[in-house]
Amino acid sequence: MPSKHQVSLLALAGLAAAAPSKLRKREALPDYAITYAPLSYLYSGESWFPSDVTVHLANVKPEVDYVAIGANNSVTLDTLDSYASDVYLTASDGPIYDPLDGTPAWLSSDYGIPDSDGLSAAPGLIIAAEKNSTTTDVFYFYFYSYNYGGKVLDINFDDHVGDWEHVMIRFVDKKPYAIYCSEHSAGSAYYWDILDFSGDRPLTYIAYGGHANYVTSGTHDYTVALGLISDTTDAGYLWDMTLNYRGYWYDVDSEEFSVASGAGKGATEEADESADWLAWLGYWGDEQYPDSLIDDLETGQYCIDDECRYSSGPTGPADKNLGRSTMCQKDDCTIFDNIDDLTKQS
Ligand SMILES: *[C@@H]1O[C@H](CO)[C@@H](O)[C@H](O)[C@H]1NC(C)=O
Ligand SMILES: *[C@@H]1O[C@H](CO)[C@@H](O)[C@H](O)[C@H]1NC(C)=O
Repeated sequence: MPSKHQVSLLALAGLAAAAPSKLRKREALPDYAITYAPLSYLYSGESWFPSDVTVHLANVKPEVDYVAIGANNSVTLDTLDSYASDVYLTASDGPIYDPLDGTPAWLSSDYGIPDSDGLSAAPGLIIAAEKNSTTTDVFYFYFYSYNYGGKVLDINFDDHVGDWEHVMIRFVDKKPYAIYCSEHSAGSAYYWDILDFSGDRPLTYIAYGGHANYVTSGTHDYTVALGLISDTTDAGYLWDMTLNYRGYWYDVDSEEFSVASGAGKGATEEADESADWLAWLGYWGDEQYPDSLIDDLETGQYCIDDECRYSSGPTGPADKNLGRSTMCQKDDCTIFDNIDDLTKQS
């Protein structure tokens, strides 16, 4: 018969063996990640609001090559990382989403409309990544169940289910150094001192529909294959992500995520969750319809050159170069040292 001491050791060993990596927890996020967090404004005419990833998952099914896979055709934060990276989280009540008519409620996510304090019921995500002894990058991830792509010459393009955007602040010796804002497939970086602030916190503006992030309000033009698109921002709905978020650490060497502190509903939900879902490299929306369904009445899909009305859903945080050494997600980039030259038309 084992001694009392041995029993407790055996029990401990059993626990460790059974322990899922969900027990991978680290200390709270650094204070500066919250003190200097962006205060963001959604556009006053926005129709596609912040979404809770768990609500999103409850409304999609995993598909590969347009065929549902997996147990019960369902996926949760706990099972997400068990799926391969060729999986598309496809809307269960698809395929038609006319952005202006008959959109399912979970896609427009009215529950995520921030209240007058800037509190959204949809938790944001704050992920800290320590780069070395002096530099830590803090990523603020914004998730929406739907991306309304906007219009070129009055024709709507690039709608998709699922939309991940982010702002990153680089801290050197715990002080903010510069900020990066994701804008469509790229983004821009700006030195800290040139931003507009409310107290210690920089103001960012989230464009209508496609949710690109900017540091000035007004109209921002960018070019796509077919021509010019304008992003519209204004100080519509204040969204203060620090009131409701899931917090994580990202280890640059092991590429693993750990649970840190959160706040509000995000913290409550996160307490029972694994961080492993963040490592999943698949797609958060439907796959772009196959060519055989272009101009098909049921899908409503059309394409001009390579630009289509409905495109594939995006990949998640793990695919956004969290280990970057430069400020920008892709390659090297200029860090703007003046925001007065940026387009401000309204
Ligand atoms: C599938 O559904 C059954 C019945 O509702 C449930 O017991 C089981 O846990 C589900 N499996 C998964 C992997 O969700
Ligand atoms: C720390 O990492 C940042 C970002 O990659 C880099 O610019 C900086 O030179 C590094 N500092 C040290 C001391 O290694």
